[in-house]
Amino acid sequence: SRIVVLISGSGTNLQAIIDACATADYPGEIVGVLSNKADAYGLTRAENANINTVALSHKDFASREAYDLELIKRIDAFTPDVIVLAGFMRILTPAFVQHFQGKLLNIHPSLLPKYQGLNTHQRAIDAGDKVHGVSVHFVTEELDGGPVILQAKVPVFDGDNSDDLAARVHEQEHRIYPLVVRWLCEKRLSMANEQAILDGNPL
Ligand code: GRF
Repeated sequence: SRIVVLISGSGTNLQAIIDACATADYPGEIVGVLSNKADAYGLTRAENANINTVALSHKDFASREAYDLELIKRIDAFTPDVIVLAGFMRILTPAFVQHFQGKLLNIHPSLLPKYQGLNTHQRAIDAGDKVHGVSVHFVTEELDGGPVILQAKVPVFDGDNSDDLAARVHEQEHRIYPLVVRWLCEKRLSMANEQAILDGNPL
């Protein structure tokens, strides 16, 4: 399968998927990486792996709709089967989400439906949660609201700050995202009636 990854930042999840794609039996390859920020370190990671990159700044567009229409065009040029949001810090228009419905994945650093939006690690600490984690989900028009596919949990220890917790969550992100991307590449994963459905054994 052909994978396109969208980023805005450091791209450690992108790296985890690059590394997974380099293993012998992985059923997908990353054919393009797009960023809304030209200085995103993830673009360097992609270039180092000989993957085509596109930097498309939202600041060059008059509206969110206009930006997303151009983004759709640039993504479609790669004829992808799977589109992976990996730290892409943009709210997407309904037109964008509908265009890629069922092929579009996101990773969100909380145990959804808890803590949609930003600052999830600090919010988990402030709430006194003993367990925190990360979710991979299909993207729908509701921000961080689409059907959850897989979650991983981490403990929250006394005295943790949000960086400690983010690091612990990141380790799990790098485990579960390549796994879910694999399922979608294998066409074992689908979305129906607002639910994620996996055929066969998870591992
Ligand atoms: C991750 O925490 C992810 O859950 C969130 O954005 C961050 C991206 O990190 N959606 P990275 O750029 O992959 O390191």
